Amino acid sequence: MNFFGKDFLRILDFSEDELHYMLKVAKKFKEYKKEGKNHKFFPNKNIAIVFEKTSTRTRCSFEVAGYDLGMGVTYLDPSGSQMGHKESIADTARVLSRLYDGIEYRGFDQSIVDELARYSDVPVWNGLTDECHPTQALGDFMTIEEHFGKLNGLTVAFVGDTRNNVSNSLMAMSAKMGVNFIACGPSELKPSDAIVEKCKPIAEKNGATITVTPNLEELNGRVDVVYTDVWLSLGEPQEKWGERINLLRPYQVNKELMTRVKDTAIFLHCLPSFHDLNTSIAKDVNKNFGLNEMEVTNEVFESDKSLVFEQAENRMHTIKSVMFLTLWDSSTGLK
Ligand code: CP
Ligand code: NVA
Repeated sequence: MNFFGKDFLRILDFSEDELHYMLKVAKKFKEYKKEGKNHKFFPNKNIAIVFEKTSTRTRCSFEVAGYDLGMGVTYLDPSGSQMGHKESIADTARVLSRLYDGIEYRGFDQSIVDELARYSDVPVWNGLTDECHPTQALGDFMTIEEHFGKLNGLTVAFVGDTRNNVSNSLMAMSAKMGVNFIACGPSELKPSDAIVEKCKPIAEKNGATITVTPNLEELNGRVDVVYTDVWLSLGEPQEKWGERINLLRPYQVNKELMTRVKDTAIFLHCLPSFHDLNTSIAKDVNKNFGLNEMEVTNEVFESDKSLVFEQAENRMHTIKSVMFLTLWDSSTGLK
């Protein structure tokens, strides 16, 4: 298996074995971190992390993972570069890849990160686009595998805005890992036919199914992982809150919904989450629409079933794995 010099743009670009290997290396790095073992493999490398949308977990994971690997890290926020405004994506890619050994990019259209990768001579890592969030799915599946001791044969249900970036990458990762995937949400927000058509044959090959449904009954007794995400994603207009709340309120992950699924089921969320009124956005929504909690209740979020902070930590270990594998010349082997 050779990842050296490859981009990490979407889950479907990688084989089942490659994705399993990424998880295996992430597990090794988690052990190194816990043991305090030095793993500064790249003292002479530098990376640029470019964010055109805000971030806590992804930015911090790339930074910490970069430092742990011994690298220098430059963070560029939406106002910190000329990219797209004064300089084309192609020119930015060619400049950054003269200076850096790898580039992370979070932004809007998937075509931007694809173009960046096309013109860059160094690996480009997708830190979230409107279409997908592949490093998130890796961290999620690391968490699921740690908890259940396996992946194959499990069932993940994404409940809510099932056409969003996180759901799309989870569907792809589920298909690759032989995990049944249920996208459960209103038909107005169902995943695109294109992504479902791409994932279904992969899932079938790996002995799993993909179900797209508005019916919560489909969750009854057959779900190991309940996953949800915010009802309005980064970059979507605030005016849409009313419409989204109307569509998604029945799909809130609450105690009642959790009684539908297996007793052993866990709850996951990519975060950030609106499970209380301790954020300015949640306060605004509360004032305008009267909701105290949105996609998940505080009760479920804070319950023993919720592994959301383990999941957040695993972002860093999996991102480190992706950076390591794509920057390391595998002919020299894993230390
Ligand atoms: N889950 C996730 O990507 O979080 P951030 O937006 O904080 O990076
Ligand atoms: N769907 C969310 C994920 C955030 C990590 C968004 O795009 O805002």
